[in-house]
Amino acid sequence: MRFRAVLGAAMLALAGPPTFAPSLAAGPGNPIVAARQASMKEMAAAAKTIAEMFDGRRAYEPAAFKAAAKTLSARTGPALIAEFPAGSLGAPSAARPEIDQARPEFEALARHVGQLADALAAKADQAPTAITGDMRMGAMLPMDGGSLLGKRPGAAETDPAKLPAEHLLHLILQDCSSCHSKFRQKTE
Ligand code: HEC
Repeated sequence: MRFRAVLGAAMLALAGPPTFAPSLAAGPGNPIVAARQASMKEMAAAAKTIAEMFDGRRAYEPAAFKAAAKTLSARTGPALIAEFPAGSLGAPSAARPEIDQARPEFEALARHVGQLADALAAKADQAPTAITGDMRMGAMLPMDGGSLLGKRPGAAETDPAKLPAEHLLHLILQDCSSCHSKFRQKTE
């Protein structure tokens, strides 16, 4: 993972100087940018590991589930917020400069995904030796379209601790996408 992160940073540096006025702090090789991109990649790998175990594409192992959930919980919430200081935003980083003008929203998203990841990590700590039905998407939810996925913002949230692990993972991935669609930009 570390090797890949270094490689990723190196490739970014190889991409050459941006064509528009860069913020110096966000220049290629900036350690803050490299560290958060590596952190994001580790979250992506962790989420993929868990998704594949639930999909049956990867053997389920409680220890691997636990480690991956811990990675998600350690890298979201306050840790994620701390990775985006003012002056580190904008090209050539893929972090939109608008993050600075929308701090409350950005931080609320980071904290929300953090709460879900904490709940998932707490469940993974108690993970049984095989995937049980109550860990599955849809367990303990009404069958008649009572899914939380389409919920209106502001509606009362179900306590994440009460949700099945697979459902928590889906909600986490939704938060990843929500933040990316709003606060991540293409760099090339
Ligand atoms: C609160 C906002 C936010 C959340 C939540 C978030 N991300 Fe990101 N993510 C970003 C931003 C902004 C960038 C661009 C960072 C940069 O280039 O400096 C990014 C970049 C990435 C990248 C590309 C890293 C690279 O190599 O350039 C990956 C992969 C990624 N995120 C995965 C995830 C996953 C998986 C989750 C959920 C578990 C997640 N992110 C949650 C904001 C977020």
